[in-house]
Amino acid sequence: MGINYHEAERLLTLETRSTAYQMKIAPMGILCHQYYGRRIRATDLSYLDRYYDRGFSGPLYEYRRDRTPSLDTLPQEYTSCGVGDYRINSIDVINADGSQCADFRYVGHEIRAGKYAIPGMPSVYDNGGEMETLIVTLQDPVTRLTLRLYYGVLYERDVITRCAELINEGTEPIVLNKAASLCLDLPCGDWDLMHFYGRHCLERQVERSPLPHSIQTISSTRGMTSHHHNCFAILCDHQATEDDGACCGMMLVYSGSHKIEIEQDQMESVRVVMGIHDQQFSWRLEAGASFFTPECILSYSADGLAQLSHNFHDTLRHNVCRGRWKLERRPVLINSWEATYCDFDDQKILRIARQAAALGVELFVLDDGWFGVRDDDNQGLGDWYVNRRKLPDGLAPVIRQINEMGMKFGLWMEPEMVSEDSDLYRAHPDWALTVPGRKPMMGRNQLALDLSRQDVRDYLYGVLSDLLRENHIEYIKWDMNRCISDVFSRLLPSGRQGEVGHRYVLGVYDLLERLTGEFPDILVENCAGGGGRFDAAMLAFSPQIWCSDDTDAVERVRIQYGTSFGYPVSTMGSHVSASPNHQTGRTTPLHTRGIVAMSGTFGYELDPTTLTEAEREEVRRQIADFKRYYWLIQDGRYYRLTDPMKRNDFDAWQFAARDGSEALLNLIVNRTQANAQQFRIRWKGLDPDGFYRIEGEDTLFTGDALMYGGYAFPLMSGDYPAVQLHLVRVEEA
Ligand code: DGJ
Repeated sequence: MGINYHEAERLLTLETRSTAYQMKIAPMGILCHQYYGRRIRATDLSYLDRYYDRGFSGPLYEYRRDRTPSLDTLPQEYTSCGVGDYRINSIDVINADGSQCADFRYVGHEIRAGKYAIPGMPSVYDNGGEMETLIVTLQDPVTRLTLRLYYGVLYERDVITRCAELINEGTEPIVLNKAASLCLDLPCGDWDLMHFYGRHCLERQVERSPLPHSIQTISSTRGMTSHHHNCFAILCDHQATEDDGACCGMMLVYSGSHKIEIEQDQMESVRVVMGIHDQQFSWRLEAGASFFTPECILSYSADGLAQLSHNFHDTLRHNVCRGRWKLERRPVLINSWEATYCDFDDQKILRIARQAAALGVELFVLDDGWFGVRDDDNQGLGDWYVNRRKLPDGLAPVIRQINEMGMKFGLWMEPEMVSEDSDLYRAHPDWALTVPGRKPMMGRNQLALDLSRQDVRDYLYGVLSDLLRENHIEYIKWDMNRCISDVFSRLLPSGRQGEVGHRYVLGVYDLLERLTGEFPDILVENCAGGGGRFDAAMLAFSPQIWCSDDTDAVERVRIQYGTSFGYPVSTMGSHVSASPNHQTGRTTPLHTRGIVAMSGTFGYELDPTTLTEAEREEVRRQIADFKRYYWLIQDGRYYRLTDPMKRNDFDAWQFAARDGSEALLNLIVNRTQANAQQFRIRWKGLDPDGFYRIEGEDTLFTGDALMYGGYAFPLMSGDYPAVQLHLVRVEEA
């Protein structure tokens, strides 16, 4: 299928439906990268490597009279370190004798059916017969540090996965100061870098710029994926558009500190190195021990950014998300946070629930404030027992009444955190991540628990599983509201403190694995003050992630736009909230808010008891529409029709059924003008030979006219109006 070895040329080729990836076991056992791009036949591309004596890029010892092949210029699959490749290295080690080099030479390889797994970390998986694995083994001949490079080929989705394992087969300990997941050398091309930056309430904004002749770093040192830099980047042709041009996406399946380094070197070659951030990281590898890096998902499209996004969307939806809810229709929810914040009691909650049920909402989520002593966000985290002042009879009767209204019940929690003002902290101050003798940073006036510790995880598992066992909870919102700092674990020796950050992330995965394993029917929504941990690894536990704490529809258009480059709509938590909006004070029509929230998992986050009858009617219509369009939105093709980063007068995006039978176009006006220009949009993903009607209209359109000629919208007035058009293929009139 996808992986072949050509003995004569010592060539390893990976093939997907439309792409090819080629590496060669070059002389001296160097594993060279030769090609990643549009699918080609398995021709040996080593003719492309012409070697010259590049000054100050010295050769390997074996070539000392030749002076041409240098590690500093060879494209490689994973670099050595300290032995003459002056570009970004994949690895950084300290050997027992204090030397800081590793020199990896090919030892062997094997090809296996199915997909490799990574112990303790989520990764892409095979649904049965979809994937193949290549494992290439290299070794440093002196220390016997062994490198195993894993490649997974997901043929149909044009995806290749990679990770590395380092095994100490020597007799002395080795310290890893850096161990990347991916090294990708792209010897030719004129690349732009696209990355997704932001801040709290403004996640995943898109920046695109030509690569400079320097090293660019996109990273998080926050112990979490972060609102600030997502662990996803794209290299694309300068000319690449949504519909055309070469682009290569790289996504780390990881939820902790990460680093993507991109270097354009002296020969105009580009190297990308991606993995766990090396700041505050080290890992002591005893003799016989092994270390796995997280996985990196790679995809290449020769046909523009939309196709690249579709490859990632399908992979995340079908090969990363797990469990009952990955493809099941998710309930339309109402979340209590912006309706009540921490100020509620059972009567208020039930009033809101009753109104929501009457509108057609299917799941009521009780957000922050139900536990311990929690009147604001300065107290109570860690005390996961019911606040009897607010809920005097406990959770059970509230849940029962909500169930009787015909809704499921969901609950917010923030298991990784503890407030200083909590019973848990008073009993176990040493369970928090703090450095002895120092005052810790207090994000949201709370501390992170040391999840690298088994005893802390066991405690949390006990408390949370009791809560879930004793109550009919069908949804969990798993929040995390501060960055990790003061990283020190009291159970590890001084020489292993560099492991705590990564062990924390492994601890989160372990806890989530145990809980989702025991309660497979519970729908989990991940959240970190909005989208601070929006990553593929979290999607393995929670098929949806709260996209941002900014619920303003106008802002959300840009946030959801940026998120869509890597992540499917079915993962983006999005709600209709009150107007004026609580974060921005902006007033927008309910219709507009509905359209924007529908391009996500869809729900409400407002107090329905304050709605007018006309608004209630509109909400009922929105819920009915969302249910009608559910599969088109969640499983159709998503198309970006405008670039909201350009701050246009209007923005538009669209969903199209994979068979071209229907489509849903959404347009929001950002700036209303008198005597405005007409907004014209070209539809995408239709059947060019088909005939279509817009629901509620008589005009018959041809698919090709709508796709190539476009559609002209009537002028709209007022602040932030929006339209949603449902297009259906019909028989010729
Ligand atoms: C941050 C989340 O993003 C909000 O939706 C809400 O759950 C608050 N935390 C509660 O503290």
